[in-house]
Amino acid sequence: MLDGPMVVSRSNRRSRSSSCVRKLAGCARAFGCALWLVACVDYSTVEPDYATLRQAAQAKGKLIGTAVDGDLLRDDVQYATLLAQEFNAVTPENATKWEPLEPQDDKYEFSDADFIVEQALAQEQPVKGHVFAWHQQLPSWVEGITDAEELRVALREHIETTMERYRGKIMVWDVVNEAVDDNAPAGYRDNLFYQLLGPDYIEEVFVMAHEVDADALLYYNDYAIERMGHKAEFTYRMLRDLLERGVPIHGIGMQSHLAVHRYPAADDLRDNIRRFAELGLRVEISELDGRTSGLTGTLEQKYEAQRIAFQETMASCVLEPGCTGVTLWGFLDEHSWLNDEGEAEHGLIFDDNYEKKPGYFGVMNGLLGKLLKRGPTVIRNGDFDDGLDDWVDVDSTLRLESFDDQQSQVACAEERATNEAGLGQDDLVEAFADGGSFTFSAQVRQEGTAAAGMNVGLIVEQDGQDPTTISLGYLFADPGVWRTMRGSFALAWEAPPSSVRLSFSGPDPGVALCITQVTLNPLTPDPG
Ligand code: G3I
Repeated sequence: MLDGPMVVSRSNRRSRSSSCVRKLAGCARAFGCALWLVACVDYSTVEPDYATLRQAAQAKGKLIGTAVDGDLLRDDVQYATLLAQEFNAVTPENATKWEPLEPQDDKYEFSDADFIVEQALAQEQPVKGHVFAWHQQLPSWVEGITDAEELRVALREHIETTMERYRGKIMVWDVVNEAVDDNAPAGYRDNLFYQLLGPDYIEEVFVMAHEVDADALLYYNDYAIERMGHKAEFTYRMLRDLLERGVPIHGIGMQSHLAVHRYPAADDLRDNIRRFAELGLRVEISELDGRTSGLTGTLEQKYEAQRIAFQETMASCVLEPGCTGVTLWGFLDEHSWLNDEGEAEHGLIFDDNYEKKPGYFGVMNGLLGKLLKRGPTVIRNGDFDDGLDDWVDVDSTLRLESFDDQQSQVACAEERATNEAGLGQDDLVEAFADGGSFTFSAQVRQEGTAAAGMNVGLIVEQDGQDPTTISLGYLFADPGVWRTMRGSFALAWEAPPSSVRLSFSGPDPGVALCITQVTLNPLTPDPG
């Protein structure tokens, strides 16, 4: 039998044969009617319409959470109402961070956190505490510590006092946040904890938290680890090694602060979620929002791109058993941290009038596990079956070779004169003239002697203007190995382009760059 609320979608009811309707009209006895109803409606295609995100998430067994601001919850009734109606989990946006909680040594301010936790539990919304060891929002007295043991004691006392207070109320904690810095030589962020305690501080803090509350689920949280790339790679190896050493880590939060003009492809995100889940970790999209300033075009075009980015990200989680759910980093555009840099980013799902934005329906469709349809690839001869037809060299010499044991061929750009040199495909104006959202994938390999970065982008010309490059993807990879480069992006033009080239470039001059299996598909919104 069905789970979740019994709501029948209008279009399917109309599609059923009129005879069913006659039968329904003819039968008066209650139980009989129900039986006919079941017989008449083909449930295999019916997707119930859910009135709220919370209902849909409940039906799908997933979390749909949000970051919560204590002042808004206290002072804004509409905010509190939407919070209770639409979300089945909460994360205090700031109230459970070290500085707000313990501004002075051993002097705690629990009122904000208490209020958020009590309200959440009253609404049956599990709370995730956020965060103990993070390089931001540290109290000044902690930032002033220069002795390792003093820091260790301060950490332990803070964690003990906080977790004791919320034992049985906050069952999930972000213990360490943003400890990886892929620009740092060792890969670890050079923060106070790392400076005084070394990289083992991560293990220490998780052990401390587990010793205080062995029933709590403990998470590592970070950003820019959603796509398969250098930072995700380092984070994966770090957590795998910690888990192999028996360190009590139960989950990972992929923050997912997206830019709606360029964000992780669903396939890349799903592969990444799956491999972290295979380590035994619960995976959560922990701070989803979508900044729109990177996309030119109208607000309507930005909203549509955001709807698609949210739907793809949400569906990627729903379709992966290892992903427990998605937490939005707030839900009202006006109150998003994204606006702190001065520009209105419209980064969330309700506008300043508390009205649902297209992004809300992107999240809803994603919650129903609906990825967008992929239109036919706009790339010609992406497998090089027709040799080098449709491809051009860019300050390089092109070589064709077969692709290992696969049926396709490979094109390599050699004698590359500059970093920007490589190969590309022209005549893509028609494919991109109307803008829209797209997703791409390509197999790439660089033939250097050390790890290096490879880029894919669009070189765009608009009448009377210098060409501009829209970066679509970057992958830092070891030499001689095939890697999959994937990404999704949105385009919106003020003036239609006069020429568009898809361009692959990247490693240092002289290093050959090889590509094959290049696809680029429009993401076509479902009519819903
Ligand atoms: O509470 C003080 C208030 O007393 C003071 O009057 C006011 C004026 O300066 O500042 C208030 O503190 C602000 C705090 O938010 C609470 O509103 C801080 O200045 C401000 O920096 C802080 O911003 C938070 C930011 O983390 C700090 O880095 C954002 O709200 C919050 O959304 C953001 O969240 C982080 C996650 O924790 C981790 N991942 C990234 C994410 C976005 O940066």
